[in-house]
Amino acid sequence: MQSPQGGRIILDGKEVVNMASNNYLGLANDPALVRAAQSAIEQYGVGPGAGRGIAGNFPAHNELERELAAFKAAEATLAFNSGLTANYGLIPTLAGKGDTVYSDELNHASIIDGIRLSRSEVKVFRHLDMNSLEEQLRQPASGKKLVITDGVFSMDGDLAPLPDMVQLCRRYAARLMVDDAHGDGVMGRGGRGTVEHFGLVGQVDVESGSLSKALGAVGGFVAGPAELVEQTRSQARSFIFTSSPLPPAFAAAALAAVRILAASDERVKKLWANREYFMGRLKELGFNTGSSKTPIIPVYAHDEEAARQLSLRLYEAGVYSQAMTFPIVPRGQARLRVIVSAAHTREDLDLTVAALAKVGRAMKLI
Ligand SMILES: Cc1ncc(COP(=O)(O)O)c(C=O)c1O
Repeated sequence: MQSPQGGRIILDGKEVVNMASNNYLGLANDPALVRAAQSAIEQYGVGPGAGRGIAGNFPAHNELERELAAFKAAEATLAFNSGLTANYGLIPTLAGKGDTVYSDELNHASIIDGIRLSRSEVKVFRHLDMNSLEEQLRQPASGKKLVITDGVFSMDGDLAPLPDMVQLCRRYAARLMVDDAHGDGVMGRGGRGTVEHFGLVGQVDVESGSLSKALGAVGGFVAGPAELVEQTRSQARSFIFTSSPLPPAFAAAALAAVRILAASDERVKKLWANREYFMGRLKELGFNTGSSKTPIIPVYAHDEEAARQLSLRLYEAGVYSQAMTFPIVPRGQARLRVIVSAAHTREDLDLTVAALAKVGRAMKLI
């Protein structure tokens, strides 16, 4: 890649429409984020020196955590160097040996690994299936109960049925954790996330998220009650045992992103207008886009080689979108993952639709 992230990118020397990144709001190369990172580097340098508990927090960390908490309507947040390590740190703080964790079968790998690190017993329920979750919750279980789900599922673009999950968790005295890595900046009022989208603010016990997707920077975070966030700060091994915490420049960039989102919902509206337009055109053409309800749109090829061919032929036609194959998705469910962004122009979307129509027809996908 020889350009910044954007609606179009230069890939292997060729300009292509970029339908592959999680840069949902086009913030990854926004001048406000670039300036914030540059001035933090000038003021504080590049390397954090050691973990934040040892070398100290920079002002940008504290400001980011405060303003992100206000944006998410949470008591507190704690920033990590990635969404992946936020899950590695949070889940073992919430549950341990002797406890039981209930996990959607399509939850992200970092949730699966976080549960392994917690040494809890794990019960996997069928994707989005509340009967399956209830069946599991009804069985006798040891210790504390914790239900974990993605808010927006990263390969299918569908949504966790959070209102039903909140009810079930109440009925069976379980806590609920939502990983909203693909929901923050995308779902809910002004991009406040999937929990806000469902009107459930204050009813989910804790959230994890990413600063590297819609927020356009690098990093991850945990958002929830102050006491739990403090407990995570003092117990999370992925927070404590690293001298690579979120660098001050990226805390500053993420802070600039939070400020942009808190001030205006313009980008989120543009994202959704693009998504609705693009999805409408794909539906007209007759593509199988599964159960997507978000800017993540799977275009199913099923066969792995067909998915790879689809991606290659699209690149030749001027569009970059990645094939998702095993082990990222289950066998037999290979697909192209097409991601719409606020950074796309109508022309970008039309070019993508035309390329998909041409290649899809040639490959007999429509
Ligand atoms: C649902 C989910 N959780 C967590 C992560 C990890 O976040 P990050 O990319 O910030 O490490 C991802 C992304 O890859 C994700 O899709």
